[in-house]
Amino acid sequence: MKIRILGTAAGGGLPQWNCGCEGCATARRTGAVRSQDCLAVSADGSAWYLVNASPDLRSQLLAAPELAPPPGTRATPLRGVLLTSGELDHTLGLVTLREAAELSVHATAPVRTALHEAFPVGPLLAPYTKARWHTVAAGQPVELAGGLVAEPLALGGKRPRYAADPAGLPAGDPAAERADWVVGYRFTEAGGRARAVYAPGLAAWTPALDRAVADADVVILDGTFATDDELAERTGGARTSRGMGHLAVADSLPHLVRRPGPRYLYTHLNNTNPLAHRGSPEAAALAPALAAAGAAVAEDGTLLDL
Ligand code: MLT
Ligand code: MN
Ligand code: ZN
Repeated sequence: MKIRILGTAAGGGLPQWNCGCEGCATARRTGAVRSQDCLAVSADGSAWYLVNASPDLRSQLLAAPELAPPPGTRATPLRGVLLTSGELDHTLGLVTLREAAELSVHATAPVRTALHEAFPVGPLLAPYTKARWHTVAAGQPVELAGGLVAEPLALGGKRPRYAADPAGLPAGDPAAERADWVVGYRFTEAGGRARAVYAPGLAAWTPALDRAVADADVVILDGTFATDDELAERTGGARTSRGMGHLAVADSLPHLVRRPGPRYLYTHLNNTNPLAHRGSPEAAALAPALAAAGAAVAEDGTLLDL
């Protein structure tokens, strides 16, 4: 199994276009930038799947040689997209894929509904490409090309802000109440032994996630905020990390310590998170605790060969 980490920042990226905070200013000055959270995965190294479609997708695809079409062809190695949420930072890139001859998109029922109603990228794409939409459900593994198997893990009921108003969905629509607005995926390979978990939005450490990480080689997980009160401290607001559907690094680390073995990589880092800034004093101070848990911060462009 191969995994290309295409982007590691939360929505807005690093630097964020309208932010002049110390971290964003440093990123502008040094060029140590992060693009928005996105992943590519393949069991056989030939058939690749995107997990999420970030707003930075075009430049992310151009930077990944294995995702280029063979010279003289339009035979993209991309077989489809799996979505972990309907958030804009995970779905705006679907528009970038409109040149594809055909496009398979896998999403949970509430996300699929949202992407045809509140944010109608489904109907928008229809005149451009032959899109095929597939509903995935927690605990029901999906068999994909190249021997890749993806098992969705239900991780939370947090809706995207654009779909926050239940009145925005048709009356009585069960999508309004679903707990699988946010999922992770456990990837395995037919006939192989590599196992990987990707969970960039993690509201809580669920029993299904706990089971999934137990035998994983690599776990790429939610590193949006370092602490639960980080955003409130840095911006003066009242929103907690947990309240935004993100378990802070300080709160997931004890679970990592309890489940040693996998290589843990934190992704989807917000620009307020000191861990997003390589070499910052705060990141250096947190490094020993991360290392003790077998964890590190994911970096854009990393290729994992499992
Ligand atoms: C999230 O990860 O919580 C969302 O992407 C936030 C946003 O709306 O940008
Ligand atoms: Mn996000
Ligand atoms: Zn900033």
